[in-house]
Order: sequence, then C-alpha cells, then structure tokens
Amino acid sequence: MLYKRSSELFIEANKVIPGGVNSPVRAFKGVGGTPIFVKEAKGAYLYDEDGNRLIDYINSWGPMILGHAYEPVVNAVIEKAKKGTSFGMPTELETQIAQLAISMVPNIDKIRFVNSGTEACMSAIRLARGYTKRDKIIKFSGCYHGHSDSFLIAAGSGLSTFGVPNSPGVTEGTAKDTLLAAYNDIENVKALFEANKNEIAAIIVEPVAGNMGCIPPNKGFLEGLRVLCYEFGAMLIFDEVMTGFRLAKGGVQELFKIQADIVCFGKVIGGGLPVGAFAAREEIMNYLAPIGPVYQAGTLSGNPLAMAAGLEMLKALNADSEIFTRLEQKTAYLENGIQKVLTEEGITFTINRVGSMISVHFDANPVYDFATAKNGDNETFKKFFHGLLKRGVYIAPSAYETWFITDALTYDDLDFTINAIKEVAKEL
Ligand SMILES: Cc1ncc(COP(=O)(O)O)c(C=O)c1O
Repeated sequence: MLYKRSSELFIEANKVIPGGVNSPVRAFKGVGGTPIFVKEAKGAYLYDEDGNRLIDYINSWGPMILGHAYEPVVNAVIEKAKKGTSFGMPTELETQIAQLAISMVPNIDKIRFVNSGTEACMSAIRLARGYTKRDKIIKFSGCYHGHSDSFLIAAGSGLSTFGVPNSPGVTEGTAKDTLLAAYNDIENVKALFEANKNEIAAIIVEPVAGNMGCIPPNKGFLEGLRVLCYEFGAMLIFDEVMTGFRLAKGGVQELFKIQADIVCFGKVIGGGLPVGAFAAREEIMNYLAPIGPVYQAGTLSGNPLAMAAGLEMLKALNADSEIFTRLEQKTAYLENGIQKVLTEEGITFTINRVGSMISVHFDANPVYDFATAKNGDNETFKKFFHGLLKRGVYIAPSAYETWFITDALTYDDLDFTINAIKEVAKEL
C-alpha cells in the first residue's frame, strides 16, 4: 500500500498544527511511521487519501458502533443543519435524548450534556466534590478520564499516597488531591480510604478499562469499590465513556449489576459528533447550576446537530434487541480466530475481551492492571500494527488501546482480518 499523499499531508499539517495532529495518539508515535489521512469512511471501512481501503477496528475510538456514515444519523444531522446549527437556547431535542438515555441506563434520573468525555469526567468530579464537600479523589493508574488537570497524575514516589503531575502545566496543588491506586487491587483502595478518612469525595473508574488495552474488572473488584464508597461516604463514579451504550444498553451498571453514583458518557452517545454527558440520581444532579451551587456550563452543550446524531444512534441501539449479542458474537469470533492463528504460529500473547472491546497483548502472563499491561512487547506490537496496516487492516496505533468492534463488520471482514493476522504472525 502507498501512503504518499498521507505523507505529504502530514508534512503540511506539521507546519501549522503541533505534531500535525489534534490529539496526540493519532501521530503514530507509539508505532512509528506516518499517520494515515482519511478521506472518507462508510460502514466498516476507511478510505484514505492514497485510495487505500482499510477495515477499521478503531471506529473513531468507539463511537461508530453501527459503522461509519450510518444513514439515519447522517440524515438527521443534514435535516437539522438546514434549520440552524446552534442557538444557545433550549430545544425539545435535548429533552428527547435525555428521556431516551435515562430510559436505557439504570439508576439515573437526570442527565447533563456536554461536548466531550473530558468535560463529562471533569464535571462529574466537581459535582462529587461539591456534593460531598471533600477535595480528594481516587483514580486508577492506566485509566484515562480525559485530559483535565485532576486526571493527568502519576503515582508519587516511595510511600507517598499523593499523586504527582504527569504533564507540565498540572500544578502540584491539583496533583495532591488525586490519589492513585492499582486497577483490580481493592486492598490498595481500602488503604487509601483508611489513610484519608473523611477526605475522599469520589472514586472514578473505568468499570471495564479500555485505555491500557481492554482490562476486565476482576470478580469482586467493582463490588468492593461500591462497598468502600458506602462505608467511607464517597461517591462511586463510573466513567462509561467507552463502555456506555457499547457493552449493554445500560452499560456496565447493567452488565455487572452494580450501581454507580454518577455515570459519565461520551463516544457512542454522540453518534460520532462531539458529545459527552454525565448523569445521576435526582438529588445529586439537582446540585448543579442553575438550581444547585456547583457551576457547569457550555455554549455548544446540547448543540442541535450533536443531539440529533446522538438521538438517532440511541434510538437505533434501543430498537435492536439483538445488537449487543451480535457485537459480542462477532468479537468472540475474532478472538477465537486470533487465538488460533497466533497459537499456530508460536507467538506469545494474551487476549483480553469484554463484549465488543478487545485487545491483544504480546505477553504470556495475565494482563490485569497498568503494570502488567506495560509488560507487553512493544517491538512486536509495532510489527503487528504495520503488518496489518499493509494488508488493509487498521488497529489503534498504540499497544495500550482497545479495538472497538462495529456491527458493520461482516464475517468475511473478520475472516480476512484473521488471515491477515496469520500472515503477519509469520513475520513477527
Ligand atoms: C474512558 C474515557 N474517559 C474519558 C475520555 C475522554 O473523552 P474525550 O476524548 O471525548 O474528551 C476517554 C477518551 O478516550 C475515555 O476513553
């Protein structure tokens, strides 16, 4: 495959955009080479500026669960755009999508729409802090909740339980209010609560982690977090930006039957337009401005194009009783195929999967937290990525990302992919 045009476009982009991209992982730093510039996409396929067709396993990092340019969404956006693209005033559409989302997700009475997953998580934390009148939060190493300051935190050294900034520009003052724990380590969380009694406002967690590859919660982990939050008077925030409307209609709360206090959404809820949301029971959500004291706002929040796209997407998911089973079956088929061909070729690997989220780790040992995710062989991953790209299969350009399966994939696409993986495995 040729990437001549993509390479030229990347050179031009680099002159005017830092690193040539508007979000770092797109730059291929994790795998080397030149990012692919997309011209258009339809269904399960991307078409790049060089005329190559790629089977897409990223799907805009999750949102395109029904495939690219899904017609009901596209038509709804076109029709809305003709009637005005932004008003900064209420529309009926916002109530309609709120009603539908609330009917699909357990345990939420009210929802507030924002423009990204970052905004959703940032606002959820502020709400939890305001509600509990406490400052500290617990997050897990390797979980990503967007790029707001409170989340760009690395583990402190030695016995310190405080986090330290992991990006210049994040202040130490902010970092000291974020405590870090290891994913799937409930004793670690308990120790943090014991050491910070009456100070912790919330735990924020990806209930199925997707930002260090796909990492399922161990049996008892989410239940343990729930109990600790009750015990210590903190709120449990599920960041369902990836998992919401993907693993089940009602997300992980439904899948694993655990109730969070605040739930964050993004990706699928916007149908491919910039949407995030956070939701909770009424008494918590009523703590928000304009009826409550916690301030949160947005000029483009509830934007009619975004709401129209999101509403059509949720309607389609809500109306299709088989969708999540179908996605699970397709992803399980892919998992079994990969398992078979990598084993046949003598490759050392571990596959993690929950529903339609899947990741391949080049390490023989179980991958259950950030430390174990980092054990994967990155050089093998780079070859794997480029080998697949050469054969027309696009996976995320980083060993720490989950693949997101779309319903637009056919079993022929999956077989093509499994064959490509077999070929690539011979070169690893
Ligand atoms: C779990 C999770 N939370 C939050 C975010 C941030 O969302 P956004 O990129 O829309 O700001 C992401 C983005 O990938 C995510 O995966």
